[in-house]
Parts: sequence; structure tokens; C-alpha cells
Amino acid sequence: MKRRDFIRSTAGATLAATAARQLRAQTPNILPNKSIKPVVISSANGNKFKNGGDMTCVQKAWTMITQGADVLDSLIAGVNLVELDPLDDSVGYGGLPNADGVVQLDSCCMHGPKKRAGGVACIEGVRTPSLVAQKVMEMTDHHLIVGQGAQDFARSMGFKIEEDLNTEHSRKLWLEWKRRIDPEHYLDPDKRSGEARRVQEEMIADGLLDPRRVYGTINCNGVNAKGEVCGVTTTSGLSWKIPGRVGDSPILGAGLYVDGDSGAAGSTGRGEANLYGLCSYLVVENLRHGMTPKDAGLDACKRIKKNTIEKRLLNSRGEPNFNVNFYVLNAKGEYAGVALYANTFAVCTEDGPKTVASEPLLQGKPED
Ligand code: GLY
Repeated sequence: MKRRDFIRSTAGATLAATAARQLRAQTPNILPNKSIKPVVISSANGNKFKNGGDMTCVQKAWTMITQGADVLDSLIAGVNLVELDPLDDSVGYGGLPNADGVVQLDSCCMHGPKKRAGGVACIEGVRTPSLVAQKVMEMTDHHLIVGQGAQDFARSMGFKIEEDLNTEHSRKLWLEWKRRIDPEHYLDPDKRSGEARRVQEEMIADGLLDPRRVYGTINCNGVNAKGEVCGVTTTSGLSWKIPGRVGDSPILGAGLYVDGDSGAAGSTGRGEANLYGLCSYLVVENLRHGMTPKDAGLDACKRIKKNTIEKRLLNSRGEPNFNVNFYVLNAKGEYAGVALYANTFAVCTEDGPKTVASEPLLQGKPED
């Protein structure tokens, strides 16, 4: 190409690029939003429990979102069904208790458009910790209130405080656990955790515990047609935990993270493994850098695998002997469920609620 032609064609390209930029700047920012289809995703229990009604969590949240309700209000109304349902023994009322037989609950929520968040940990006596977390977000300057302080705060906000959140089922399983474990090991944390694991595996083998539910939890994330993203996570945490133990669920960046411009991610599974890498934050940062929900989530699974080096946490293949799941949604309404090992997650779109397979990082089962 002659120098004169080159200059002419380069100048033409520059002019075209400038014109395109100007056109984009003049175009109101409603076109992309119009194409967003509302979506709600959650852990699989979000499409199982109905608390005696006719809708599951994802269905309820999606219906409210499409009727114009605030996204976070809708998600919390959804997870309330699971918190209140005595049949889910991993969340809220009837959640499996700690080593002393006391139900201690954790939850947090994040509102993308408002850029606000709130959480409670180790709260006793309130069936719906997600609603208390929302009050922390709305009524205080704080992000996390724990233990007795969380209960006192809930009382002052008008929540009913109950003496005991155990159901007959959760108490019976705790008594069985207590019967099997050697209390003498309680004061030695190393021996006790080994013993606790042995008893837990025994109870799983005896069909008393569902291995997928030992860490329990529901995470639920949603986006509306305007691209507004929110999320909530709520749990009774690890069954038979040392009293006061807090997992990933109420910790912003671990059990949940939302960036209103990029998306949301939350988790279920072994909280300690997720806390170490603040993986929900990692997933949302990955979304912010343009990764797909699936790749963003699998990257966090790889990080967990890399950080799991202690022998007691590895199976015979040298891989993690536990599962961690992420539920990932971007602000365009694209979503994925990913996990270290095969599992399922719940989703509700205009096609209705479904339970679908997550994308696993590793083959086989954690315990093999
Ligand atoms: N992921 C729930 C917990 O570890 O408490």
C-alpha cells in the first residue's frame, strides 16, 4: 500500500471508530437491559422444600421479581420458606444443632444496586436469620452482628425469640451423635475432630445423615429485567460444630458476594475451605474481568483444590475429601452451578423451576 493510501485508510478507520463511539454515547442505556431475562438460582434445596405451600424458594423469588418486587426482598422471601420448613435440617428452624445441642444460625445478604450488605452469625432463637441480616443491612451502619448481640438486636427489631429451634428430628439426631462420640475427646481439638469425622461417617453409612447436607445451607441469587443483582445465604452451619463456630455463610466475600455491575456468587459445602480463599469474592471478580459464570466458578474450585494440602482433608486420590458448590449469576442473567464434585442446583426462569446438574471440577465422589 502506498504511504498516501495508508494514511487515508487509517484516517478513515479513526473517523469511523469516533462516530461509533459518539453513537454509543448517545444511545440510552436501556437496550441491553431490555434483553435481560429474570433468573433466580440457588442450592438444590431451593427447589425442594415448600414449607407446606405450593412454591419452592426459587419459584417464589422469581415470581416476586417478575411482579416488580425488590430483588433482595424476593430472594429472602424465597429462602424464608426453607428456613421455616422443619424438613430441611440444614437451615433455620430444625437445622442440625451444635455439639451442645443448640441451633446456632448464620446468614448474610447483599443488595447490588444499593451497594449495602448485612449479616448475623451464631444467632440463637430466631427462625429466619436472613431477615435479621436484612435488618442489619437496613437499620445499622454495620455489616455483621454475632451471638448474643445478634439476638438482642433481633429482639429490638421485633423478632420473636424462641427458647429452642430444635425439632424432634434434629434433637434425635443430636442425641444419637452424642451417644456415639466419646466426650473425653472434647478437650483435645485434634482428637475430637478426628473422632467427630469418624462418627459423622458412621452416621452417613447408617443412613442417618445425608452427606450432601452435613454443611447444609441455602444460597440464593437473582437478577431482574433491569439487571439488578442481589443475593442471600442462610444456614445452621456444620452439624455438631464447636459452639460458636462460624463458617463461610455469613462472611461477605466467602458465603456470598455481590457486585451490582458484575454479578453474584454464593456457596454451600465445607465453609472452612471456602473461607480460606474468600472464593465468592474471587468468583465475582472473575465475572468482572469478563469470565463466564462457569469458568469464574471453576476457577474458585481450582483454588480450593490447590489450597487443600492437609492429609486429613484428602481422599485416596489425593484430592479434597469434601465438596464445595458455587451458584454463579452475572448481571446479564447468565448463570452456572459449579462444584468440586458432581451435584445439583436449582434455577427458575420463564421456563419454570428446575433442578439441574452442576459442572464438577473433579470426577468421582469426595469420600472415595
Ligand atoms: N457452608 C456452610 C458452613 O460451612 O457453615
